[in-house]
Amino acid sequence: MLLALCTWSEVETYLKRSVGIIVPIGSTEQHGPNGLIGTDAICAEVVGRGLGEVVDALVTPTIAVGMAQHHMAFPGTMTLRPSTFIQVVRDCVVSLAAHGFRRFYFVNGHGGNIAPVTSAFGEIYAEASMAPRNGSNVGDNRGGVQCTLRNWWLRPPVVALAKELYGEHEGLHATPSEVSLTQHVYPDHIKKAKMDPAPPATLDFADAFDFRRRFPDGRMGSHPALSTPEHGKQFLDLVVADLVKDYRKFVAA
Ligand code: NI
Repeated sequence: MLLALCTWSEVETYLKRSVGIIVPIGSTEQHGPNGLIGTDAICAEVVGRGLGEVVDALVTPTIAVGMAQHHMAFPGTMTLRPSTFIQVVRDCVVSLAAHGFRRFYFVNGHGGNIAPVTSAFGEIYAEASMAPRNGSNVGDNRGGVQCTLRNWWLRPPVVALAKELYGEHEGLHATPSEVSLTQHVYPDHIKKAKMDPAPPATLDFADAFDFRRRFPDGRMGSHPALSTPEHGKQFLDLVVADLVKDYRKFVAA
C-alpha cells in the first residue's frame, strides 16, 4: 500500500491495525558510466514497495535526495548537506508520528545516508528523552517512536549473491548489483558503456573534487558492465524475502 495513493480515512483505518510504516530512502547521484542517476532511490523504492506488498504495510513516498556531497563533481548529482538531511528525516518521522505511527522502517539505497540518518534517529529520540517530565513535549514527538535503517545491499543474502556473481568486481559504488536492480525495474533504460574493471577502491576520500580525482569515471572498484536485469530480479526477490521476518519482528517489538 502506497501512502501517496491512500485517502486520509484509509490511513486512519490502517493505524487501527498497525503503527508500522516503510520509508524508502535513496540518493540522486552519479553511478558511473552505465548507472542511472536515480539508482539508489530506484533500488530503495522497489525494495521498500516489494516488502510493503508482502507484509501489507504502508510505504511512504521515497526520500530521493540524500547525502551525496562527494558525488557533486559529476553532473546531475543532487545533495542535501548533512545538517539539512537530518532535519528532513526528522520532520518526515515526526509528522507521521503525530498521526500515530510508531515504527519507522527505513529501507536505504545509499551508503552516504547511513551516518546522517542514524544521527536523525538520535535527534528524534533526544526530543522524547529530553522532554520535560510534566507531560509537555518538544515538537510533535510524543515518545514511543522507534526507527531502524536497513541497507538493502548489505543484507547477507545480497552480499553472498553479489560475491558469487561478481567476486571482487562488486566494488563499493556503481556496483553491478545495484545497476542490475535498476535494469530489472527499467529495462527500457539500460545503458551501454565501454569500461574496464576498476582497480580496488577505498572509502578514503573527502570532498567532491577529491572523489573525482580518485575515481574519474565515478566507479569505486566496481565493474557494472557485468550487470543484467535477470540478476536484478534475483537480488530483488532475495532481499524482499530477507526483510519480511525482520520487518514483522521490528513492528511487533
Ligand atoms: Ni548507489
